[in-house]
Amino acid sequence: MNTPQDFINQLIPHKTPKKIGQGAADVNIALSKYWGKRQVELNLPTNSSLSISLPGLGTHTKIQADKTLQHDCVCLNGKRLKQDDPFAMRLSKFLDFFRETPNTFFDIHTENTVPTAAGLASSASGYAALVLALNDCFDWQLPKKELSLLARLGSGSASRSIYDGFVIWHKGQTENGLDSFAEPIDAPWSEFCIGLLEIDLKAKKVASTTGMQQTVNHCELYQAWPKKAEQDVQAIQQAILQQDFSELGALAENNALSMHATMIATWPPILYWQPESVEAMHMVWALRESGVEVYFTMDAGPNLKLMFLQKDAERIQQAFPALKLIRPFG
Ligand code: DP6
Repeated sequence: MNTPQDFINQLIPHKTPKKIGQGAADVNIALSKYWGKRQVELNLPTNSSLSISLPGLGTHTKIQADKTLQHDCVCLNGKRLKQDDPFAMRLSKFLDFFRETPNTFFDIHTENTVPTAAGLASSASGYAALVLALNDCFDWQLPKKELSLLARLGSGSASRSIYDGFVIWHKGQTENGLDSFAEPIDAPWSEFCIGLLEIDLKAKKVASTTGMQQTVNHCELYQAWPKKAEQDVQAIQQAILQQDFSELGALAENNALSMHATMIATWPPILYWQPESVEAMHMVWALRESGVEVYFTMDAGPNLKLMFLQKDAERIQQAFPALKLIRPFG
């Protein structure tokens, strides 16, 4: 079996930094979710997943290797983090794989245009932007498939943030992890809209990495998840290619609720919803009953992401005045 370091050494040509590196990536919202790892060290998922990237919402990262530093220096949104900050520690652990010598540390400046750790997938854009910045810093000139493989090791959902538009992350079959990467689905859909409904932007209590491990290990219902998720990925891909919005919305909403059902049925239970999240779900269902086609999805947090077509945007914006409207192909 590959160790994470073997895995990385197979992908990168060298470890000699060349210049200050820069990278930018957008967040993505999964329409069919990644929930569970079959192999933790290599971040190999139990199931494939499918997402949409949100242009203009993401992360920009600058990185420089510096042999005079005694440790990594991480600045997040202009604020220098302490060495023992959990965000900085996770980043440094990932950067350990790329050091020229054990004493080569990095100066990292990262800016998020999404609230960090609020269920808006900032780790996805974060690790994708970091890998792009490393690719620039070391001048590796890697193809996107390799960048997606590297980003996966930082955070699973980051494998998808390497691309714009609809993206599929294949779970892969091998133990070495080299076939578990994301690819774009070439199917722009200009009418397709996402609306962000922010319920609570505080950092979540259970990080997704921890939450999915608890679910895998302590939820009897989880057994049913991988098969369902795999079927949903295929069916959602079909719906995208046929631009069948009703099918896509229904499948995506049901997929999200099924994932949350496994979380709730874990012991101790994991419930990311707030009362306002449930209230918003009821509003979405009421709108649908009144003939406005809108669906929701939710990740490891209380916020809702709505899916609808441009023709209904005004009605939906009226019902949810605080909605942030995004047109992924606009
Ligand atoms: C609910 O990619 O954040 O958003 O691989 O442990 O970093 P790690 O987890 P992460 O999990 C995302 C979970 C999700 C669903 C999804 O985006 O597919």
